[in-house]
Amino acid sequence: MSENDKKEIDQVSGIETTGHEWDGLKELNNPLPRWWLWVFYVTIVWSIGYWVVFPAWPVPSGATKGTAEWTQFSRLEKSQQDIAVLQAGYIENFKAAPFDRIMNDEQLYAFATAGGAAAFKDNCATCHGTGGAGGRGYPNLNDDDWIWGGTIEDIHQTLEFGARSGHPETRVSAMPAFGKDGLMSREDIATVVDYVANLPRQGHDLSSKGYDLFQKNCASCHGTEAKGNREFGAPNLTDGIWLYGGSKDTIYKTVYNGRSGVMPYWSGRLDDNTIRQLAVYVHSLGGGEKSEGTENGGSQRKPESPAAR
Ligand code: HEC
Ligand code: HEC
Repeated sequence: MSENDKKEIDQVSGIETTGHEWDGLKELNNPLPRWWLWVFYVTIVWSIGYWVVFPAWPVPSGATKGTAEWTQFSRLEKSQQDIAVLQAGYIENFKAAPFDRIMNDEQLYAFATAGGAAAFKDNCATCHGTGGAGGRGYPNLNDDDWIWGGTIEDIHQTLEFGARSGHPETRVSAMPAFGKDGLMSREDIATVVDYVANLPRQGHDLSSKGYDLFQKNCASCHGTEAKGNREFGAPNLTDGIWLYGGSKDTIYKTVYNGRSGVMPYWSGRLDDNTIRQLAVYVHSLGGGEKSEGTENGGSQRKPESPAAR
C-alpha cells in the first residue's frame, strides 16, 4: 500500500477510497455524519457529568455517592412523606366528623372502611374470622343478629369497652350457671332446655311446663318472648342462630354451667381513629343497623339471609 493509493477515487461512485484493499475490493471512505459524531461526543460528556452527580461506579463500600447524594431510599422517604401528608388531611377530616357525616360522605366512608378492614385483620380476625363470620362462642359480625346492638354507636361502644372485659365501662351481665350454682334442679333444666331447643321451630307452647320455667327463670334477661335483650347481651333464642350451639346437649351445658364470653376492650389499645374506623367497617359488613333519627345510617348492602353461626 503506497501513499498514493489513499487518494485514489473510485471510478464508479466517484468517492475517495480509504486505500484498504482485499482481493481487489476497495473500501470507500464514507465518514460518519457530522451530526452523529457530535451526538456521540455529547453523550460522552453527559456520562461524565452523570458519574459526578449521581451514584455510578462500584466501590468496595457500595458505589460512588455522586454530588447530588440521590438514593432510592431518600426518594422512597420523600414519597412516604407525601403520602403521610395526604393521609393527615383525611385523618383531620375524619377526626372532626361525627358518625352520621362519615356514613353519608363517600370519601370519608371509603377511608374508614379501608382502614377498618386492615385493622380488623390485625386485631379481630383471630377471634371473629377473616371476614367476620365468627365461630363457636365468637359472634358472626356479618348478619343482622346482634347481641349488644348493631347501630354504629352500639358497635363503637362494644369496641371501646368490650364485653365482660375488665374495663370499668365494659358491657356486663352473664348467663347464670343454673345447675352448678344450684338455682334449678337438673330435671327442670332438662325441661327448659327441651323447650328452648324447640323454640326456633315450634315457637311458644303457653301450656307447657317448659314455658312456665322459662318465664320464671329466663324471661327477665331473654324476654318473655325469648327474643333477647340487648341491654343484658342476652341473645335471641328463637331465631335459630346460636352463639354456642343449638343442640340439646350444648344448650344443657349453657344453662348448667353458664356462659360469659369475653370481648376485649380496645380503648387505650388502639387509637380513637382506628376504633372509629373499625366500627364503620363492622357496620358495613352487612348487618349494620340505622341509628335512631338518621335517614342513611344503615349500610346499603344487606345479606340475602342471615348466615347461621
Ligand atoms: C379474644 C377474642 C376476641 C377478639 C380479639 C375480638 N373479639 Fe369481638 N367478641 C368476642 C366475643 C367472645 C364476643 C361476644 C361477647 C358476648 O358473648 O357477649 C365479641 C363480640 C363482638 C361484637 C358484638 C357483636 C354483637 O352481636 O353485638 C362486636 C361488634 C365485636 N366483637 C367486634 C370486634 C372487633 C371489631 C374486634 C377487633 C378490634 C374484636 N371484636 C376482637 C371476642 C373477640
Ligand atoms: C341474668 C340474665 C340471664 C338469665 C336470667 C338467663 N340468661 Fe341465658 N344468657 C344470658 C346472657 C348474657 C347470654 C350470653 C352469654 C355470652 O354471650 O357469653 C345468655 C346465653 C344463653 C344461651 C346461649 C345462646 C346461644 O346463642 O348459644 C342460652 C341457650 C340461654 N342463655 C338460655 C337461657 C335459659 C334457658 C335461661 C333460663 C333457665 C337463661 N338463659 C337465663 C343472660 C341470661
